[in-house]
Amino acid sequence: IERTLSIIKPDATRRNLTGKINAKFEEAGLRIVAQKRIKLSMGQAGKFYEVHKERPFYGELCEFMASEPVVVQVLEGEGAILKNREVMGATNPADAAEGTIRKEYALSVGENSVHGSDAPETAAQEISFFFSGLELVG
Ligand code: GTP
Ligand code: MG
Repeated sequence: IERTLSIIKPDATRRNLTGKINAKFEEAGLRIVAQKRIKLSMGQAGKFYEVHKERPFYGELCEFMASEPVVVQVLEGEGAILKNREVMGATNPADAAEGTIRKEYALSVGENSVHGSDAPETAAQEISFFFSGLELVG
């Protein structure tokens, strides 16, 4: 059974979409095994998105992620990493498939409502960035 790190981004928490987004995960068979609402500092956002630090949108991305609270969560299920990325939809909501979270809720390529880990190594790294072993019950 696989786990992935999910973040409900500030554009979605601000619009009270946490419950609707969580319903999408649960309907897809993803179990929310850990979850907390936190506000990232610029430093924390910068560290989380360090892989993107050479990209032109890095500063904008970090400022957005630190602008308002986010909900960080661990989703568990068969093939959870890929399944979550399917439920999320394409990065740019204009390209996202019907029924996906980003198609229904994202505002733009930057304010795109959710983050999901993209591979097993990044999932493990991103889960331990936000959660201790004690916070993770099966
Ligand atoms: P994540 O699950 O958030 O990692 O999305 P992704 O894997 O679909 O996209 P990627 O890793 O390429 O980019 C990470 C995040 O950077 C995206 O989710 C967007 O929030 C942001 N981003 C990507 N491209 C742009 C852009 O052109 N402009 C802005 N402002 N943000 C962008
Ligand atoms: Mg990514």
